[in-house]
Amino acid sequence: MSFGDYQLEIYLQGLTGVLPNLPMAFDELEARAEKALPPSIWSYVAGGAGDELTQRANVTAFHRWGLIPRMLVGATQRDLSVELWGRRWPAPVFMAPIGVMGLCTPDRHGDLAAARAAAQTGVPMCVSTLTMDPLEDIAAEFGDTPGLFQLYTPTDRDLAESLVHRAEAAGYTGIVVTLDTWIPGWRPRDVSTANFPQLRGLCLANYISDPNFRAKVDADLDADPRNAVMHFVSIFGNSLTWNDLPWLRSVTKLPLILKGICHPEDARRAVDAGVDGIYCSNHGGRQANGGLPALDCLPDVVAASGEVPVLFDSGVRSGADVVKALALGASAVGIGRPYAYGAALAGTEGIVHVLRSILAETDLTMAIDGYPSLKDLTPETLRRLN
Ligand SMILES: Cc1cc2nc3c(=O)[nH]c(=O)nc-3n(C[C@H](O)[C@H](O)[C@H](O)COP(=O)(O)O)c2cc1C
Repeated sequence: MSFGDYQLEIYLQGLTGVLPNLPMAFDELEARAEKALPPSIWSYVAGGAGDELTQRANVTAFHRWGLIPRMLVGATQRDLSVELWGRRWPAPVFMAPIGVMGLCTPDRHGDLAAARAAAQTGVPMCVSTLTMDPLEDIAAEFGDTPGLFQLYTPTDRDLAESLVHRAEAAGYTGIVVTLDTWIPGWRPRDVSTANFPQLRGLCLANYISDPNFRAKVDADLDADPRNAVMHFVSIFGNSLTWNDLPWLRSVTKLPLILKGICHPEDARRAVDAGVDGIYCSNHGGRQANGGLPALDCLPDVVAASGEVPVLFDSGVRSGADVVKALALGASAVGIGRPYAYGAALAGTEGIVHVLRSILAETDLTMAIDGYPSLKDLTPETLRRLN
C-alpha cells in the first residue's frame, strides 16, 4: 500500500456509486469549514495578525517554487518514512499544534478527534498546551503513533515542569516549546469581536487538571471557573530569553524542539545550547504581520541547524507544498489549518481524509516527477519562479 492508493480507493468506490462527500482541494475545504463552524471559532482559526499579509504570503511563497520533473526513474516504490528522535514516522508529515482544536468539532472534543486520526493514519500530532481535554486523555487515543507535546511555558516554573513531566508520563516523545506566542498577536478579526476563547474559560483543561495550578488558585476552581481564568492570565505569558534555555533543557530528557525559529543565528545558538530540534514557523501569520513567509526562512535555518532536524509549518495546503518544503530541507512538515477544517466537517473522519489527501498528493508527486525517496528531494530539484 502506498499513500497514493487513496485515490484508487476513491475511484473504485465510485464504481459502486459511492461518491466522496469531503472536499479534495483546499479552497473547497476552507469554504465548507466556514459554513460549518460557529462564527467566533471560524474567525479565530482562519484569522491572522494585522491585514493577514504574512498569512497570505506563507501560502503564495509555495507558488514561487516548481519541482523539476525527472523521467525514466522507475519510481514505482516510494519510501516516505523518516526517523526522528529514535522513532520512525511513516511519512514526514505531522499535525501542528492548534490551541482550539477542541472547539473545532461540535462535541468540543476535537483534540481527541485529532488524536484518533493520528492513530488511524500514523501521522503524529503535536498537542497544544491549550486543549479541551487533558494531555493524558489525548495521548491515550494515539495508538502506536508517536505524539509531541507543545509547551507554552508559563511564568511559574513549577507549573512548566509539572506540564512537561505529565507529558513524559503520558508517553509523549518530544517537547515543542513555542517561543513566538508569549503575548497574543494583533488579530483584527478577533479584537473587533472581543473574541479570545481562553478568556472565556475554554481550552484550559491542562491547567485546570494540573495539581500545581490548582494548588495556587485560592478559590474553589470547580465552583467558579473565573478564578482559573484569572490565574491563567497571570501566568500564561513568559517572554523567555536565552538565559532560560539551560533550565528548559534540564527539565526533560525528551527531545527538546524550539518552535518559531526563523533566523539562522537563532537556530545556530539553539543548537549550540543543546536542543534536539528546530521548528521553523511564523505561527501561520497569526502572531506578527509584516510579510516574510516562513518558507523563505527555511533554507538558511536548515543550513544553520547542521545535523539537527528541522520541522517546518506555515502555509502548507497540499501535497505539492509538502514536497517543496522537504526539498528546501525540512525533515518533516506540519499541517495546520487544513486539519482543523477537516475536523469541522467530519471530526476524526474529516481529519483522516485531509491527512490522507495530502499524503496521497505528496506520494503521487514524488512518483510522477521521479523522486522516489526523501533523500532525492534536494534544493536542486526545485526551480525558483519569478
Ligand atoms: C487556530 C490556531 C491555533 C493555534 N494554536 C497554536 C498553539 O496552541 N500552539 C502553537 O505552537 N501553535 C499554534 N498555532 C500555530 C500552528 O501550530 C501552525 O504554526 C500554523 O497553523 C501554521 O500555519 P497554517 O495553518 O496557515 O499552515 C495555531 C494555529 C491556528 C490556526
